[in-house]
Amino acid sequence: MIAPVEIAGISTTLPKRAVTNFEIEKLVDTTDEWITKRTGISTRRIASKEETALDMAADVAKKALEQSGVKKEDIGLIVSSTICSEYVTPAMASHVQKAFDIDCAAMDISAGCTGFVYALITAASLMDSLSIDAALVVASEKLSDYTDWEDRSTCVLFGDGAGAVVLKRSDTACMSYPVLGGSPDHEDVLICKREKRQTPFSGAVRVKKEYIHMKGREVFTYAVGAFEHTLKKLLKMCGDKPYTKIIPHQANEKIIDYVMRKTDFGKEQFFMNIKEYANTSSATIPIAMYDAYKEGWLKKGDRLALVGFGAGLTCGGVVIDWTL
Ligand SMILES: CC(C)(COP(=O)(O)OP(=O)(O)OC[C@H]1O[C@@H](n2cnc3c(N)ncnc32)[C@H](O)[C@@H]1OP(=O)(O)O)[C@@H](O)C(=O)NCCC(=O)NCCS
Repeated sequence: MIAPVEIAGISTTLPKRAVTNFEIEKLVDTTDEWITKRTGISTRRIASKEETALDMAADVAKKALEQSGVKKEDIGLIVSSTICSEYVTPAMASHVQKAFDIDCAAMDISAGCTGFVYALITAASLMDSLSIDAALVVASEKLSDYTDWEDRSTCVLFGDGAGAVVLKRSDTACMSYPVLGGSPDHEDVLICKREKRQTPFSGAVRVKKEYIHMKGREVFTYAVGAFEHTLKKLLKMCGDKPYTKIIPHQANEKIIDYVMRKTDFGKEQFFMNIKEYANTSSATIPIAMYDAYKEGWLKKGDRLALVGFGAGLTCGGVVIDWTL
């Protein structure tokens, strides 16, 4: 069971530096035309040395909390989603907790680009089982640290950024139909391993993260299948009150176009901001939700489907009745 909750606050934190495709042209053998045509991406935000994933997480959580009007002392749970934390332990959520100086439960989720959907559903479930009234869900990613800037097939795709929401217990359930799933990645189509280092006792241990490796075609095939399947499943679950707007993980405009053609949804029903921010892994959905809300695309009363897919291979979705 998930608790009856609403999104009471939302915010984003994005690095200041916007890197254009033309700048990437100077690093690898690619062109603005190729990147735009194959992905829909024009720019991405890239964090500086000083802008860490943890700092972005604490900053975005603070802004979302301010917007929600919920007092920090009333937060009973923080769930963060990341694949980029500068620490193996403690969790990114514990760093956010430290920044707020509050006592509450805190934990991280690692579910690739589906991480925010996993985190949202985990938080709402724990709010039910632990009788918590308010929770923070944060996604913060600094993928530029794990990007091979000499590999043209991946470096054009990713960006850095963070998004967060405050979940508050409500009289009616504004978050419904949680769906989480995944399939084994037998072929290692999307991975980022830790590098091995010798120890005097146990041979090799993994201590450092390597670069992201991806088999683009295979990931594309998984993504479109998982996306379409999740959308249809959510639609069926909604019955006679279907969602009318969709915010998918912003991985590639072509993935969204492909699924659009395979379903009865119109282009105007999908929100996209990949052009500006590229793929920020689990942060794309809250960043897109925030932009959709700020731009007036998302309005109070809208029924919205969130759909994520990514490394694992994972996928998931949930329906939100927008109350802000
Ligand atoms: C990565 C992706 C854009 C590549 O597009 P594609 O049409 O599948 O391209 P391919 O990988 O088949 O490569 C086609 C050619 O373009 C080349 N290419 C790859 N990246 C390039 C780049 N940045 N610039 C120019 N050429 C590039 C390849 O080397 C290949 O050349 P070849 O035909 O001479 O061998 C696409 O596969 C994709 O979007 N996959 C999903 C990625 C994703 O969303 N990952 C995250 C999911 S959460």
